[in-house]
Amino acid sequence: MLKLFESEIQDIDLLKDDELAVDIKNLSIKLNGKKVLKDISMRIPRHMTTAMIGQSGCGKTTLLNSLNRMNELNQHYSFSGEVWIEGRNVYSKKENVARLRTKVGMVFQRPNPFPMSIYENVCFGLKIQGMSERRKLDDAVEKALRNAALWTEVKDRLFDSALTLSGGQQQRLMIARALALEPEILLLDEPTSALDPLTTLHIEELINDLKKRCTIIIVTHNMQQAARVSDYAAFLHQGELIEYSDSDSLFTMPAKKQTEDYITGRYG
Ligand SMILES: Nc1ncnc2c1ncn2[C@@H]1O[C@H](COP(=O)(O)OP(=O)(O)O)[C@@H](O)[C@H]1O
Ligand SMILES: [Mg+2]
Repeated sequence: MLKLFESEIQDIDLLKDDELAVDIKNLSIKLNGKKVLKDISMRIPRHMTTAMIGQSGCGKTTLLNSLNRMNELNQHYSFSGEVWIEGRNVYSKKENVARLRTKVGMVFQRPNPFPMSIYENVCFGLKIQGMSERRKLDDAVEKALRNAALWTEVKDRLFDSALTLSGGQQQRLMIARALALEPEILLLDEPTSALDPLTTLHIEELINDLKKRCTIIIVTHNMQQAARVSDYAAFLHQGELIEYSDSDSLFTMPAKKQTEDYITGRYG
């Protein structure tokens, strides 16, 4: 599949600081005393799609959650290292966590629409932020739904319950809900694993389009999907970052044997 901006893909080591959306420095995380991430450093370029791959339990979700401080919801949690997002040190005391979570949006494996209308789902966060003028909300809802490639399907039924949508539509609604807040980064944690193959392809096309608007970081179990949608890819194993490079290199000529074994299906 042809990738947008392919010509701009360069070696990770050549990325300049001002081209980064995310800069993870020596990140280690323990959950309930277990080392789940071990000294991860990763420079993630802006307006690109970066995939995280690796066996179940290797720490992909924990790594995503560390970017918008969702891990802190865990009781027994310890953290060392730094995470910089768009030039801000997000674990500094000054960081406003509520704002961080709007700027670093997240879509989960299973769509989780609120039991309210399509319209209300999309503008939920904006209302919390204090937007109340009807015209502004209407415009924001339309824009987010258009950007999530859902507008034409729902424009005549905006006030129907979101629960009446199909699984693929619900997942695009979740993307629209995140996009309404104009995130800098969109985290997608296995966003298509509950969807059929055709719906999955539609979401993949959407992901390619979305990176014009924000930086995408996607966790996926599906190697073909990772190869199709990502510009850069990271392979994690038991909490360690084994290999991270542009996707073409990682999937066609991995530098490490462990990566090769994983992508050729020898384990996992
Ligand atoms: N709340 C928790 N307490 C203790 N261990 C956890 C907790 N959440 C996740 N883990 C462990 O952390 C490791 C990484 O989990 P996770 O990030 O969900 O992996 P992945 O998304 O790659 O499947 C797993 O071994 C998992 O069992
Ligand atoms: Mg996971």
